[in-house]
Amino acid sequence: MSALSELYREIALCQQCEIAKYRNKVVPGEGAEDADIMFIGEAPGWYEDQQGRPFVGPAGKYLDELLASVGLSREQVYIANVIKCRPQGNRDPLPTEIHNCRKWLERQIEIICPKMIVTLGRYSMAMFFPSKSISKIHGTAQKRDNVIYYAMYHPAAALHQQSLRRAIEDDMLKIPSLLARAETIKEEQQPQQLTMF
Ligand code: URA
Repeated sequence: MSALSELYREIALCQQCEIAKYRNKVVPGEGAEDADIMFIGEAPGWYEDQQGRPFVGPAGKYLDELLASVGLSREQVYIANVIKCRPQGNRDPLPTEIHNCRKWLERQIEIICPKMIVTLGRYSMAMFFPSKSISKIHGTAQKRDNVIYYAMYHPAAALHQQSLRRAIEDDMLKIPSLLARAETIKEEQQPQQLTMF
């Protein structure tokens, strides 16, 4: 069994949060185990909960278009969420849920070992860029311990707001060149602590 399949098996057994009781399917994540880029969204919505796959609803269709704009397919990247169960009514994830689910995301990052982590939306950004504002840092990269961290707006937000749509599309277009020159990007001087929920 691959490391990811083993991890998915463990995630499927997790009942740590109340929302696990109401889920239809757990949504661990999907994509290539050797992906260079990992996209991290917020939480499964209704469509994802039905299918057990991340980003398969309208926001996911838009993410597919964004990926295609830089010649990438879902199979070439890895897509995960901060939390793996759908919060009822698509409410925002609670700090305890983010805290409980954090270990799964950390294991995913360890296994995939991506060159670049792209955060989609505020909740995902907050884990890697503590106390930053998305309107200020979207489209900018930071390199820490040889990984490029890159914040983008959430595709669902961008779908409904024209100004964010322009920003997310422009930000996506910068990804290939960031990856291509990954070696030459300077490391942050002060390694930043990850936010602890
Ligand atoms: N929004 C997310 O953040 N993740 C999904 O998987 C779907 C919608």
